[in-house]
Amino acid sequence: MRGTGQQHLSGSTIAGHQNDSYMEEKDLWYKRAVVYALDVETFQDSDNDGIGDFQGLISRLDYIATLGITCIWLLPFYPTPNRDNGYDVMDYYNVDKRLGDLGDFAIFIKEANERGMKVIVDLVINHTSDQHPWFQEARRNPNSKYRNYYTWVKEEPEEDIGKPAFADKQDGIWNWDEEAQMFYLHRFYEHQPDLNIANPDVREEIHRIMRFWLMLGVAGFRVDAAHILIQSDTEKDKLEFYDLIEDMREFINTHSQDAVLLAEASGPPHVVGSFFKGKQRMHMMFNFLLNQHVFLALARKEGSPIAKGMRMLPDKDYTSQWLNFLRHHDELNIEDLEKSEQDDIFKVFAPDEDMKIFGRGIRRRLPPILSDNRARMELAYSLLFTLPGTPMIQYGAEIGMGDDLTQPERNSVRTPMQWANALNGGFSDYEGDLIRPIISSGKYSYKKVNVTDQLCDPDSFLNWMERIIRMRRQFPELGSGDFSIIETDNRKVFAHSCSQKFTLYVVHNLSSQPQKVLIPELQAAEPNLIEVTSNQTYKAPKNGEVALSAYGYRWFRVRKSLAKTT
Ligand code: GLC
Repeated sequence: MRGTGQQHLSGSTIAGHQNDSYMEEKDLWYKRAVVYALDVETFQDSDNDGIGDFQGLISRLDYIATLGITCIWLLPFYPTPNRDNGYDVMDYYNVDKRLGDLGDFAIFIKEANERGMKVIVDLVINHTSDQHPWFQEARRNPNSKYRNYYTWVKEEPEEDIGKPAFADKQDGIWNWDEEAQMFYLHRFYEHQPDLNIANPDVREEIHRIMRFWLMLGVAGFRVDAAHILIQSDTEKDKLEFYDLIEDMREFINTHSQDAVLLAEASGPPHVVGSFFKGKQRMHMMFNFLLNQHVFLALARKEGSPIAKGMRMLPDKDYTSQWLNFLRHHDELNIEDLEKSEQDDIFKVFAPDEDMKIFGRGIRRRLPPILSDNRARMELAYSLLFTLPGTPMIQYGAEIGMGDDLTQPERNSVRTPMQWANALNGGFSDYEGDLIRPIISSGKYSYKKVNVTDQLCDPDSFLNWMERIIRMRRQFPELGSGDFSIIETDNRKVFAHSCSQKFTLYVVHNLSSQPQKVLIPELQAAEPNLIEVTSNQTYKAPKNGEVALSAYGYRWFRVRKSLAKTT
């Protein structure tokens, strides 16, 4: 406990200021980063074939950089039959021809770096496409070394080693292969055979892939489906998995100064916690647990679920970091919540069956989920940018892009970027079908929601987003500091603080009614308090009492540095 009513939670404590390793490591780039996720094929087309490409993306780098982004996460751009948005890889060492070539990729990295942005790429090693030459050879030739790159059985095991990742889209996790006359393991779609990570040759391939992209200048990898890799009943398999990630970390530590491993891993706290182990496992993890609790808080219009979610997070050391997000290219997955909590979210945020997917998620973007309520959207992003960790947004979030539920499965949230009120929203000049239809009718049409119009409007969501990102970047304590949840007398409100050299207090009202909340720590700090941003102009807090409008948020910084007060 630190201070009245505050619960100290993070692994790195204020006492850590005196700790040498803390001093050395306090400037870890990934703890200061603001991440932007994008898919090259839906971002900007430069050669007018209806498909986004690297040259198009390069032409938009100034836009991304001036938004305040410091790290781009590129979704898979490798050669692919594209039956799972590129997560079905046919060749790990190349760029899909539709998007450009390796030369374009190298230019892209250089141009991004010159604008102060790092690039993280997807590393899809749970599975390949069934069109990958390794798999083709493995099916054909039982004596080939590639046979053992995958997992085969003559009969389907009675006890399964995992469940299908896409429950309502897959029959099971074993598929019969006519050519091999055996079943192969696939925990995702049947066209994605799982790689056998226990095979040392596969490990060697993973090293080669990592080396290749590190040499081309990437700053790290999003390790796709890491929680699926670990999904096994046998301790032996689990140990093999941890051995693999420790081996990957060691590889990164020896081949790069500052590249990171970011795991896509969801699950209960003890499962996700096992991905962190100081400098031996992942640097970063998607914060699925907190994400789900933030949506529960938004759905119930109460702050308390966020505190609950934060308390559930496993402990970690200073060099490990959560990646916080609201939405990304997949479904909003709420499977780790209790049934009653899931019901509350589904009831308000996915009232139609068609908005749900896989029995566990919602296939909508944030603005439609929040009924396009601007105050509520600002509240949600203010939370994202202040919750301890590194924030990430998906392309188009900054202009409030909507979704297209007529698109199959998760493609609803993967529509082309809306640049202007022009042909194809400025995404492409192609007259035929685009890679995916752009949203062209209704309130989220590119005619109403686009970058160009919002750039010209000082009150646009885009300009608000740019300002909040600027704020976020000015307060490194949000990414690197020690955080505390502040217990208050008001369940509708969530209040917390982050401290490093300075302390930032942040208060959010999740409800649709104005609220008052008492924060005794603020009273002590009142003479030194600066309100650095808020949703509207407020009177300064008095005697620790903070007023908030409906969905209001307020950020306060204590003027004095901790070093000066202690
Ligand atoms: C990850 C990706 C998802 C993909 C799956 C299978 O979860 O985020 O889009 O379908 O892996 O590769």
